[in-house]
Amino acid sequence: MESQDLINISDLTTTEVMEVFSETKKLKDSLKKGKSTPVLAGKAMGMIFHKPSTRTRVSFEVGMYQLGGYALYLSGSDLQLGRGETISDTARTLSRYLNGIMIRTFNHQDVVELARHATIPVINGLTDLSHPCQVLGDLYTIIEHFKINPAKPKFNGLKVVFLGDGNNVANSWVEAAAKLDFSFAICPPSGYEPNKQIWQASEEAGAHISVERDPKKAVADADIIYTDVWTSMGQEKERDKRLRVFAPFQLNSSLMAKAKKSAKVMHCLPAHRGEEATDEVLDGPTSIIFDQAENRLHVQKGIMSLLMGG
Ligand code: CP
Ligand code: NVA
Repeated sequence: MESQDLINISDLTTTEVMEVFSETKKLKDSLKKGKSTPVLAGKAMGMIFHKPSTRTRVSFEVGMYQLGGYALYLSGSDLQLGRGETISDTARTLSRYLNGIMIRTFNHQDVVELARHATIPVINGLTDLSHPCQVLGDLYTIIEHFKINPAKPKFNGLKVVFLGDGNNVANSWVEAAAKLDFSFAICPPSGYEPNKQIWQASEEAGAHISVERDPKKAVADADIIYTDVWTSMGQEKERDKRLRVFAPFQLNSSLMAKAKKSAKVMHCLPAHRGEEATDEVLDGPTSIIFDQAENRLHVQKGIMSLLMGG
């Protein structure tokens, strides 16, 4: 893969996205057959976290172990970064020890800056702006459930409908729609649309993206109904207001009754059960939320292998 880092899906070419899926399939099939794949033997990756995590932390750490490498958990507050050391000095120092850095933080520009000064690959494990590993894992989950060829994925206009906040996960979906032939509609309350620049760039790149205001209309022709928390990490002060504004966008049985029987339910997790989605939907027969969680492991192994292997 030509790209040095994974900061946003928009930075990848469609060919690179397909390479990620092919590598993922290879590694996932090997794991299921019990064949080891030590493609990163002797390599180490630092994982900087300024926000909590269950899936990202565990899947990257276990993924690195399964690839024969070593992953270090670096809590943001324990690093000198938390005491004012600059991002560029941190990047240049870590580049002398490690073969890659995964970072989860607030300000997206900090990840861009880290990558600019690092001489090793940098992977975005979520910022306030985007969550590329999540959406690549989600796309791989769709590939599996809809029996699509991962090497040359044809989505044939499959429709992904995202209910709720135009947040980091939604922004990565908007970017992905410019790379692959699925259509994406978001159904947010007014004022909670995805990032304007990302939206415009994807539209200019030919993505099939749209905004629908009525949740019932939005889900009617969806193949995938996706939702995420209404209050993302860092927005806790807005929680009460958000609970009120987003209430009509809850994914529940009465909304599911308006959708196609075959529509799959997705959520990046963690869920605030009873807020953005009810238990009966999240645990219902069309929910594929834990396949999504599992595929974070496989897709990130694919990404690490392509960026740090060889
Ligand atoms: N979906 C996701 O990134 O989960 P974590 O916050 O648990 O890492
Ligand atoms: N939008 C959520 C995603 C968590 C994986 C957040 O940023 O908190």
